Amino acid sequence: MNESGLGRARPASMSSFWMPFTNNRDFKTQPRLLVSAEGMYYKDVDGNQVLDGTAGLWCVNCGHAQPKIVAAVSEMVGTLDFAPTFQMGHPVAFELAEQLMEYTGHKFGHVFYTNSGSEAVDTALKMALAYHKARGEGGRTRLIGRERGYHGVGFGGLSVGGIGPNRKSFGPLLPGTDHLPHTHNLAKNAFSRGEPEHGMELADELERLVALHDASTIAAVIVEPVAGSTGVLIPPKGYLNRLREICTKHGILLIFDEVITGFGRLGAPFATDYFGVEPDMMTTAKGITNGTVPMGAVFSKKFIHDTFMEAPPGIELFHGYTYSGHPLACAASLATLQVFKEQQVLENARRLQPYWEDAIHSLKGLPHVIDLRSIGLVAGIELQSIPGKPGARAYNAFKKAFADGLLTRVTGDIIALSPPLVLEKQHIDEMFGKLAAVLKNLD
Ligand SMILES: Cc1ncc(COP(=O)(O)O)c(C=O)c1O
Repeated sequence: MNESGLGRARPASMSSFWMPFTNNRDFKTQPRLLVSAEGMYYKDVDGNQVLDGTAGLWCVNCGHAQPKIVAAVSEMVGTLDFAPTFQMGHPVAFELAEQLMEYTGHKFGHVFYTNSGSEAVDTALKMALAYHKARGEGGRTRLIGRERGYHGVGFGGLSVGGIGPNRKSFGPLLPGTDHLPHTHNLAKNAFSRGEPEHGMELADELERLVALHDASTIAAVIVEPVAGSTGVLIPPKGYLNRLREICTKHGILLIFDEVITGFGRLGAPFATDYFGVEPDMMTTAKGITNGTVPMGAVFSKKFIHDTFMEAPPGIELFHGYTYSGHPLACAASLATLQVFKEQQVLENARRLQPYWEDAIHSLKGLPHVIDLRSIGLVAGIELQSIPGKPGARAYNAFKKAFADGLLTRVTGDIIALSPPLVLEKQHIDEMFGKLAAVLKNLD
């Protein structure tokens, strides 16, 4: 490997890398190797162009190799490669925090840096517990998530998460959690555009959990405003408002996990803006640096932060990561915010949303398609499972699409699409043209 050829050749061996969330044995017999990326496209190891239908993994919202972000990270690494943020600081972390406050429209007062979505979730859950304890309600320890929720892979996020295969091998997880029912209802809501009509009343299940456990034991409820990794589950109309009302009524903190929806996915800065419902905390990651450098962040309302600041002098929160506020991540994030503004990324997403929605719904009637759903620049295509082989049909579609130059993401028998927000109509045409061809020829 020399400088210009870095990572461009097939690896001599693939046995040592234990790949995450991957069918390792299958992958290694037929690897899909990406070697470079620019704008809307990856290039694979054979030199083929691959249209990025998933913004990498829901993160490259401003497109690949964005020159401003590349330049900012390159400059930063040569200026300040690392600086600790425990009892120390560096200016870029503070500058970014101020700009992030502005980007949220000052709905939040403070931001705590992590390195991933999983860490952001565990941080927010710990903050919720510590907040209640600090105000003399230390009995509020119960954490409530939702079936089919995905909140990363830390023990906290897994415990409030609701995806069976992610949980089942890992023991009892955190004690004192519970789950709301998921909102997916194909019988009533199939082929919805945007928020489905039916299911708002499922938020009232929180009242049932309050009756069961008592509000004085419940610290927080965490939900994804739009559940992404479980297969694009869009909240029913009025559902999030109702959750907010019930949390407020019972003094329960509401956390929105915006790791996927944050930084423009719905054509608004965050889902909280899109739905007009404000949580007390918000977890983010992915798009915060356009995927270039790992970073996560927890946004908290001022009243939560201020409660900690009333403690006797000393460290207020015994929590943090070596790489919290890493200079490269901060530089990448500052540049990302600049690109959002200068290149009108959100405006582009909103402009193309109706075209996107029409394109996804044009797949109706193709073989095996039992639902199409979309919101912002996200789409879910649910396929009828092959009896006795759940997930096999969509996985096959994923492999065929990749062979045809399109990167998709599948979970169970749902294909999810979430392209970079800088796409143009021609990319939508290419994406759905390829996908339609795959679906027409799928067993
Ligand atoms: C809603 C949500 N929360 C948390 C996570 C975990 O993020 P990470 O993989 O960066 O730990 C994800 C990742 O997809 C996510 O979608």
